[in-house]
Amino acid sequence: MEKMWAGRFSKSLDKLADDFNSSIHFDSRMYKQDITGSIAHATMLAAKGIISELDSELIVETLSDILEDLEGGKLAIDENAEDIHMFVEAELTKRIGDIGKRLHTARSRNDQVAVDIRLYLRDEANEIIGLIKELLKAIYGKAKEHKMDIMPGYTHLQRAQPITFAHHILAYAMMFTRDITRLQDAVKHMNYSPLGSCALAGTTYDTDRYMTAQKLGFDGITLNSIDGVSDRDFCIELLAAFSTIMMHLSRFSEEIIMWASWEFKFIELDDSYTTGSSIMPQKKNPDMAELVRGKTGRVYGDLMAMLTTLKGIPLAYNKDMQEDKESIFDAIDTVKKCLSVFAPMIATMKVLPDNMYKAAGEGFINATDLADWLVKKGMPFRTAYKHVGEIVAYCIKNKLILETLPIEKYKEFDDIFDDDLYNEISLETCVLKRISAGGTGEASIDAQLEYITEFLND
Ligand code: ARG
Repeated sequence: MEKMWAGRFSKSLDKLADDFNSSIHFDSRMYKQDITGSIAHATMLAAKGIISELDSELIVETLSDILEDLEGGKLAIDENAEDIHMFVEAELTKRIGDIGKRLHTARSRNDQVAVDIRLYLRDEANEIIGLIKELLKAIYGKAKEHKMDIMPGYTHLQRAQPITFAHHILAYAMMFTRDITRLQDAVKHMNYSPLGSCALAGTTYDTDRYMTAQKLGFDGITLNSIDGVSDRDFCIELLAAFSTIMMHLSRFSEEIIMWASWEFKFIELDDSYTTGSSIMPQKKNPDMAELVRGKTGRVYGDLMAMLTTLKGIPLAYNKDMQEDKESIFDAIDTVKKCLSVFAPMIATMKVLPDNMYKAAGEGFINATDLADWLVKKGMPFRTAYKHVGEIVAYCIKNKLILETLPIEKYKEFDDIFDDDLYNEISLETCVLKRISAGGTGEASIDAQLEYITEFLND
């Protein structure tokens, strides 16, 4: 296929160099955005009298046909084209001849690709927001179902204080609400149209960039044409947001994997989200969660690739920038796949409250509450803390727990102890009495559930 730019050359491009240069095998996924951008551009060219109304109408109509044919499987992308922009233009010209050749007036592939990628990423970011919402719904469902089911809360992976299962998983819900607002912010930042920046310096034609921006749903135009074609900050912002989503999913995965182990057995994953072993008949492996944890590194890699590609290139467009696409597309595909399996994996997992409760009763996780009770009776906190530490050490030595240590023994440590202590240190009291805002108490869980409901309805 003869190159569009062949005029200046006396030899054609070497075959390997041609393959190396071509981006059609990955940028063809932006065909819809490319055509939409071109339709807006052709409409504007006619409105400004740069091309005739008749030519513009034919161009727009034919571009719409091309889109329809691509979507209906009637037209295949030509893998020999250099990129998606060249393919669409060549197809247009094939269908309507010289009139098609008028489309590229007052435009360059540099602003064309910049607008295509913004449109594409805007759509994908919104789709990913939808997938995170599905995950939020799954977490919400489990939290509601197990609102007051007690489990051990950990620090340093050591049993620390009793919490409810709802409180624990709602922590993840809060992270995912921030992930959504982060994506929304990134979309806001990228939603300015570079179309009309042309190669780098603008154009001598009297174009209307505000018109194309408005037609394409942008909030405005990029104010500097050099920045318009050189900026890929929005890719970095999105990749950083994707990396944060993956980091959250990975932390959650790690807990799912631990909780599903025989050592914890706090949950059981549904058969449809687990795999067996080729040799050990008893195995039920949490592969989905492990893969999500593993794929996190891949998305971080995509962010690093983008940052590194951009760090050394001078203004304005350089071919290095073609490398922006594969990493961000890979990150999008990965994040979407991960969210798509994670949400139903959470929705279908079985929570085992009895095992959690048992674990909560074994680790002296009510020791802080015993100390707090002594403080409420007038003892300075440090003294209470020391007493309880000694009592815990005594219990460990004698294979007892705070609940089973007899009152006479308590009194040997200090006369202040009385029978009320047993009620004070019951796991239920420990949880219910945590009344501080944002704590594990019931009113706080209700407030969190309400926040998620409102967030989802927004
Ligand atoms: N395929 C190119 C890319 O993705 C399109 C822009 C080409 N511009 C140019 N001046 N060669 O970056």
